[in-house]
Amino acid sequence: MARILAIAGSNRIGSLNQRLLDHACERLRTLGTHVTSRNLTDFDLPLYDPNEEARSGLPAGVLRLKEEFVAHDGFLIASPEYNSSFSPLLKNALDWASRPSPGEPPLNAYRGRVATLLAASPGALGGLRGLVHLRAVLSNIGVLVLPGQMALGKAHEAFKDDGQLKDEAMARMLMACVAELHRVAGALFPTER
Ligand SMILES: Cc1cc2nc3c(=O)[nH]c(=O)nc-3n(C[C@H](O)[C@H](O)[C@H](O)COP(=O)(O)O)c2cc1C
Repeated sequence: MARILAIAGSNRIGSLNQRLLDHACERLRTLGTHVTSRNLTDFDLPLYDPNEEARSGLPAGVLRLKEEFVAHDGFLIASPEYNSSFSPLLKNALDWASRPSPGEPPLNAYRGRVATLLAASPGALGGLRGLVHLRAVLSNIGVLVLPGQMALGKAHEAFKDDGQLKDEAMARMLMACVAELHRVAGALFPTER
């Protein structure tokens, strides 16, 4: 069974992206994919600092984050859009995890993995422009980013109290994204890593 790591690009209390991600994780689990949900703030990641890396190597939190990436076959990511790009919380984590430990193959935490991207915003575009950047970055570091994605506009009004999406078309779109990840990850990674 494929193993997917779910992360949100926001640590905001009440995050719309975390809410969308939680709902997507629930859907993905119902299809039978193994999903681990992690909060980036649990890893205690400092702001990337090349001098500090040269002095002391990778911080403990980065090593733990990389272990999580390496232990999974792919990612389900929901990120806010900040000024037309994805969030600095997520960029910082992605940058740290791209740094090799001594003797480790390049981009070991990324290469050969798959990803599905989501975004949520109170704005009309739903964070779509941020996903363009996130897709480019992940593709450039060796992740197969699946074509299906969802940017949920007016996200502050989009959820029912039970966490389901109010709009049928949006619910179908989310299910299609999640089903694509389930199908492709399942085909690429039929056995335990
Ligand atoms: C610095 C900053 C820049 C933002 N820029 C955008 C933007 O370009 N497009 C957009 O749709 N929303 C933008 N927003 C609004 C966020 O989409 C909104 O705060 C959203 O709720 C953040 O996601 P979260 O709820 O998961 O934390 C911005 C918010 C901040 C704090």
